[in-house]
Amino acid sequence: MYSSLLTSLENGIFTITINRPDKLNALNRSVFTDLNHALDEVYAKPEIRSVIITGAGTKAFVAGADISEFSGLSVEESKALAKAGQDTFFRIENAPKPVIACVNGFALGGGCELAMSCHFRIASDNAKFGQPEVNLGLIPGYGGTQRLVQLIGKGRALELLMSANMIDAPTALQYGLVNYVVAQEELLTKAKEILTTINSKAPIAVAKCIEAANAVFNETQNGYLTEVNGFGDCFGTEDMKEGTTAFLEKRKAIFAGK
Ligand code: COA
Repeated sequence: MYSSLLTSLENGIFTITINRPDKLNALNRSVFTDLNHALDEVYAKPEIRSVIITGAGTKAFVAGADISEFSGLSVEESKALAKAGQDTFFRIENAPKPVIACVNGFALGGGCELAMSCHFRIASDNAKFGQPEVNLGLIPGYGGTQRLVQLIGKGRALELLMSANMIDAPTALQYGLVNYVVAQEELLTKAKEILTTINSKAPIAVAKCIEAANAVFNETQNGYLTEVNGFGDCFGTEDMKEGTTAFLEKRKAIFAGK
C-alpha cells in the first residue's frame, strides 16, 4: 500500500516504519507523501488508538532529509520544501492520539526533527541525535530550531545546532530529549507497554492532554484557557461519567471514547 513505509495495526497501536534502510531511511518526497497518507489514517480511523514511528533496520531511525533532493532547488522552492515538512510534522504534533518515536539508531537532521515532533521519544542504546545541517551550509527546516530549544533549552540546543555534534542515547536521556533508553530489541516492547497503558485511558481526555500541552508553545493560544476548556469539555463526555462512577463503585472504568 505504501512504497516507503511499512504499517501495522495491533491492539490499537499503529506502527509506522520508515522503510528505506539502504539510505538510512532518509526522508525523500515519497516518504513525506506516504507519511501524510498514514497520518490521514491516524486521524480518521477510530481503531487506531496510538502510534509508534520508527525506522527500518538496526542502524538508523532517519538520517535526515534526503540530501540528493536538495540540488537545484531555488530559494523559493527550498522554502516551500521546509514549509511542507513543517506542516507534516505539525500534523504529528497535533494528532489527537499519542505518537511515540522509537529511535532505533541515527536520528539526524530531519530525523531528529521527526522524533521531536512526536509526543515523546524512546531510544535504543545505539541511538545518536544531531542537527548536522551546518555541515551542509544549512539550518534545520522542519522545526528543529524551535523544538530542540523547547525540549533541551536554548544553550544546549544552540551548541548542537552550531557545532553539528551528535549526542549519544545516555546524553539524550540526561538532556530530557528522550524518556527512556533501552536495548534495541526491547524498544518496541517498551513503547507498546506504555501505549497499552495510555490506550486504557479515556481517549478524549488523552487528546485534551496533548492539546493543552501543545498550547504551551503556541503563541496564538492561551494554554491555561485551553486547559479550562478541555477540563470543561471532558465533563460533557460519557467517559468522564464512567470514570468517576467507576472510581466511586471501586471498579475499573471501561471507556468508550465518547
Ligand atoms: N540523504 C540522502 N542519503 C543519505 C542520507 C541523507 N540524509 N544519509 C545517509 N544516506 C545514504 C548514503 O548516501 C549512503 O548511500 P549509498 O550507499 O547509496 O552511498 C547510505 O545512506 C548509507 O550511508 P553512509 O553514509 O554510507 O553510512 P555511514 O555509516 O558511513 O554514515 C551517517 C552514517 C549517518 C553518519 C552518514 O550517512 C551521514 O552523515 N548522513 C547524513 C546526515 C545528515 O547530514 N543529515 C541531515 C540532512 S539535512
